[in-house]
Amino acid sequence: MNNSYKEISDCADFLKSKGFDSAEWGVVLGTGLGAFVNELEIIAEVPYSDIPNFPEATVEFHQGKLIYGCIGSTKLIVMKGRFHYYEGYSMQQIVFPIRVMKLLGVGNLLISNAAGAVNLDYKKGSLMLIEDHINLQPENPLRGSNIDELGSRFPDMSEPYCKTLSSKLKATANALSIDLKAGVYASVLGPNLETRAEYRYLKIIGADAVGMSTVPEVIAAVHAGIKVAAISVLTDECDPDNLKAVDIEEIIAIAGKSEKVMIELVKEAFFNG
Ligand code: HPA
Repeated sequence: MNNSYKEISDCADFLKSKGFDSAEWGVVLGTGLGAFVNELEIIAEVPYSDIPNFPEATVEFHQGKLIYGCIGSTKLIVMKGRFHYYEGYSMQQIVFPIRVMKLLGVGNLLISNAAGAVNLDYKKGSLMLIEDHINLQPENPLRGSNIDELGSRFPDMSEPYCKTLSSKLKATANALSIDLKAGVYASVLGPNLETRAEYRYLKIIGADAVGMSTVPEVIAAVHAGIKVAAISVLTDECDPDNLKAVDIEEIIAIAGKSEKVMIELVKEAFFNG
């Protein structure tokens, strides 16, 4: 059931044969950061469908690809398109690319996503630094025999989001006058949005934002000793007392509008020289 270390290392070897080499950074481009690829000087790229042992892309992600490139002197491996549990992938499939990144030397991982604002002080269109999470997804990518070459059986989760990387994002946001909120991200299975009662529940348990991704990748990254920074674009306001029917087109449009700011922020914080 679990990825075998051999599958992961075979995949890393294949990517090396396609021109990938070691990289300091991994990036998972969720809704709202797709245009980040335009910032890259691309060295090599391979469609997910051509990568051995990669999950078979669903219709939604037939254009997904893995990109190796650089910004200045920093090398990056970028996932354009991510896998969600609600699409039917196993948790092990979802985190497979993160594990391959580890074997290609990645030490820092940047993740973006779109999320609903459960904290009603946070308005749609804002960016939120994820400082902690609550895993409400019904599975865990570490279930099954542990891959000892990557990490330990019981990884610590006292600080899943790296304080140093997060401080850098906060300081940069401050310097650029970007209003960066901060808070707790709750991951749900989806694909349906939440009921009013569920939004009330999420607020009570301490969530500031809710979405359908990110936490599996963070768990696998922490397990493998990769430092994580993650940012949500808040695309809708989850007010149980005034809940409007969510319009997915609007969510995508709002994520797209915040894209420029998100790219400016991460470029300046991490890839500036
Ligand atoms: N709930 C879950 N996932 C989401 C939401 C939401 O309100 N908005 C964007 N992704």
